[in-house]
Amino acid sequence: MKKVFIVLGISLVIAACGGTKPGEAEGGDTSTTATNQAATAATTNADTAASKTGTTAAPASKGATLIAGSDCTTCHKEHQKIIGPAFADIAKKYTAADTEKLAKKVIAGGSGNWGDVAMTAHPALSLDDAKEMVTYILSVK
Ligand code: HEC
Repeated sequence: MKKVFIVLGISLVIAACGGTKPGEAEGGDTSTTATNQAATAATTNADTAASKTGTTAAPASKGATLIAGSDCTTCHKEHQKIIGPAFADIAKKYTAADTEKLAKKVIAGGSGNWGDVAMTAHPALSLDDAKEMVTYILSVK
C-alpha cells in the first residue's frame, strides 16, 4: 500500500512539473524578449533610415538652416504672425529684387514696414548669411 502512495506521489510531482514546465516557460520568455529586442532594433533602424530619407528628399536650404540656428523663430513663424510678420506674408510683399534691402534690415533691425514693433538688430550676421535667410523667407509660400 505504501509503495502505491509513493508511486502516486512521484507521478503527481512529475505531472505537476510537466504541467507548468517552468524551465520551458522561462526559455520561451527569454527568446520572446530577444525577438522583441531584435524587432525594436529593426524598427529603430527603419525609423532612422526613414528620417534620413526624408532629409535627403527635402534638403533644408542654407537660409532655413541659418534661421533655425538664429533667434528669428522667436518672433517669426512661416505662416503665422507672432511678434514679427509671417515669412509667407513677407514673401508676398517683396520680390527677389528686395533681397539685399531686407538683408540689411535684418542686420540693422528696425520698424515701420509692418507696424511700430521693431525687429532687434543682428549685427553679428554677415550680409551674405542675411541674404541667404531672406532668400529662404521669400521662398515661403
Ligand atoms: C524681436 C523680434 C524679432 C526677431 C528676433 C527677428 N525679427 Fe524679423 N521682424 C520683426 C518685426 C517686429 C518685424 C517688422 C518690422 C517692420 O515693421 O518694419 C520684422 C520684419 C522682418 C522682415 C521684413 C522686413 C521689412 O522691412 O519688411 C524680415 C525679412 C525679417 N524680419 C527677417 C528676420 C530674420 C532673418 C531674423 C533672424 C535673424 C529675424 N527677422 C529676427 C521682429 C523680429
